[in-house]
Amino acid sequence: MNVSIVGTGYVGLVAAACFAEMGNQVTCIDVNPTIVEQLNQGRIHIFEPGLEPLVERNRQEGRLTFTTDLAQGMADALFVFNCVGTPPNGDGSCDLRYVDQVAEAIGQTMEDYKIIVNKSTVPVGTADRVRGIIQEQLDKRQCRIEFDVVSNPEFLKEGDAVNDFLKPDRVIVGTDNVRTAKLLETLYGPFARSRDKMIVMGIRSAEMTKYAANSMLATKISFINEIANLCEKVGADIKDVRVGIGSDRRIGYHFIYPGVGYGGSCFPKDVKALIHTAREHGMTPELALSVDRVNQHQKQVLAEKIKTHFSPTPLTDKVLAIWGLAFKANTDDIRESAALDTIETLTALGMRIRAFDPVAGDNARTALAENPLVEIGQDQYSILQNADALAVLTDWNQFRNPDFARIKKQLNNPLIFDGRNLYSATMLSGFGFTYHAIGRPP
Ligand code: UGA
Repeated sequence: MNVSIVGTGYVGLVAAACFAEMGNQVTCIDVNPTIVEQLNQGRIHIFEPGLEPLVERNRQEGRLTFTTDLAQGMADALFVFNCVGTPPNGDGSCDLRYVDQVAEAIGQTMEDYKIIVNKSTVPVGTADRVRGIIQEQLDKRQCRIEFDVVSNPEFLKEGDAVNDFLKPDRVIVGTDNVRTAKLLETLYGPFARSRDKMIVMGIRSAEMTKYAANSMLATKISFINEIANLCEKVGADIKDVRVGIGSDRRIGYHFIYPGVGYGGSCFPKDVKALIHTAREHGMTPELALSVDRVNQHQKQVLAEKIKTHFSPTPLTDKVLAIWGLAFKANTDDIRESAALDTIETLTALGMRIRAFDPVAGDNARTALAENPLVEIGQDQYSILQNADALAVLTDWNQFRNPDFARIKKQLNNPLIFDGRNLYSATMLSGFGFTYHAIGRPP
């Protein structure tokens, strides 16, 4: 089938490469000429395991092309996927500027029937809005061209995006007619072979499903973080409690790992957008409000532990080594990363930071360029030299089983603040470390 994808971010580029991988003819469109040029040379601009070879193979085999020209890029396509960014506005609502621009451009240039697929995370009612914008442009051109707008939210996770797309738990299609549902079923057939993986529903339900899914997952994380904090107070161990509750199949083990709060470009933004939508409809979304509040508190938990530990000594005399700047492992994405909150709080108190991340270092260096107290190093161990403690903020595998003897030798004090519960007090006691984790006894 002939597919056109607008936007080459995590969602757009992964979808494009995976559709091409199944033999479809895919054109990927982006307004940024530098990105398009790079992609045409086989280099991708984001860090996503497994994506570059997939893009490159499909590009070389002629199934995947890149262009900045929307009209040309969608000329032969039946499906036009809108995968542009929907960043948050200051009031928590979703900035639909780019979605609108794409809809307008589609209306101005389309020459035959198209199915416009909203894949970006967009508030309920956006499909109707997109339909209105396209129709307005067609009316201006006095063209009578048919088109459909459907909602097809994406559920891939950064760091595991290719795998998630190739083997989805489900494919949600929101449409108001059977024909588009059938066509999307054909397109997604290779990924969702078992029939019950395709879930067809009304457009607004599909749009709502995306926010409900992300808010539910964020709720699980805020819940377990609150229980972890309580464990610390009552002398319980969250590691045991997690297994204890996870063994109930109605609860499950997944996505109840405590930590330094959820980050990234999705959960924080989507919970806030859900709150905004509920308020627009006269509701007070008590649960979502609490989930967001608990998360904001959790992002400060490690900084609080560090402050308490050193109190009353001023932090101005101290250097903290940080392992991990990305919002989670396997990504270079630092958006809404708890590491940034921790750094901001501690440097405001004068603490000096030396940080390392296996891939997010460059992004962090740019983001923190104005902060003279922060230094981003190239090596996991050398940043420890003469630091007063180590704080672990991202769950990269290479931090899981480090050389503790070497860490101890390099630090001024044998002191670890573990924001991801990668280690344990027993594991570290033999080395003589003082160890602080989340929801675990010291
Ligand atoms: C999330 C969803 O998991 C995807 O299904 C969704 O498609 C995506 O948002 C999106 O809307 O685009 P992502 O933001 O890439 O994916 O990352 P997650 O793996 O969900 O992690 C989000 C945050 O929660 C991270 O900071 C992670 O460290 C944290 N987390 C996750 C925990 O603190 N505990 C857990 O048990 C799981």
